[in-house]
Amino acid sequence: MSSLPPSTVPAHVAIIMDGNGRWANARGLPRTMGHRKGVETVREAVRTAAECGVAYLTLFAFSSENWNRPQSEISDLMGLLKTFIRRDLASLHRENVRIRVIGDRANLRSDLLPLLLEAEETTRLNTGITLVIAFNYGARDEIARAVRKLAGEVAAGRLDPSAITPERIGASLDTAGIPDPDLIIRTSGEERLSNFLLWQAAYSELMFVPDFWPDFSRETFLAALARYSMRERRFGGLQPTLAVGS
Ligand code: FPP
Repeated sequence: MSSLPPSTVPAHVAIIMDGNGRWANARGLPRTMGHRKGVETVREAVRTAAECGVAYLTLFAFSSENWNRPQSEISDLMGLLKTFIRRDLASLHRENVRIRVIGDRANLRSDLLPLLLEAEETTRLNTGITLVIAFNYGARDEIARAVRKLAGEVAAGRLDPSAITPERIGASLDTAGIPDPDLIIRTSGEERLSNFLLWQAAYSELMFVPDFWPDFSRETFLAALARYSMRERRFGGLQPTLAVGS
């Protein structure tokens, strides 16, 4: 169990799960094995986040740019997600986990989309942690789809351009209704966002950890949450001590 006071636990943690391929290479294994081991880390991360009182955990499972990978790796990643939903849906549901999927659903494999929809529908009323799976997700694509939707409403005369506020844009994104991530973690030592939650990350705390995703243990996750609890977030304002009397 985490010893962090509830007020310092981030409500929303988003993770760029990076380094599966390098984890496998370092062991002379095929990349696939890294992704497989990565699924075990996913299970543990969901459990740890739920235990700590994190309300939303978003995992970047497949980016819109990942289609550029070899066909065999794409099939493998799709297969892993499919297996994860098939095997874990019942236990996630039992554990009161709510599943949301973000990303472009158009042109998703016909054997995958129904599973994702089923996972969302089955767990819709659950009240525990929300596991947000970013699949076929790219932030620029998400923003472009939202803009197209709003432009369509303007063109149809249903929306005045002056009503296009940041709130309205946020509500048109795939993440509508989900609070912005408080903390974004990227594993494997890479330090960039790679088209992940660009709009939502405006005030997120960023944390880069050296571990490859398959090695991202419960202890590393807890340490990241502890480091987050020490950060001071100002959202463009002043440090509270400097703001007093101003
Ligand atoms: C990055 O490692 C990881 C991915 C592109 C996929 C992550 C997917 C999973 C862990 C499995 C499926 C997900 C769920 C939610 C069940 P990389 O291949 O880019 O590693 P590298 O940078 O070392 O090559």
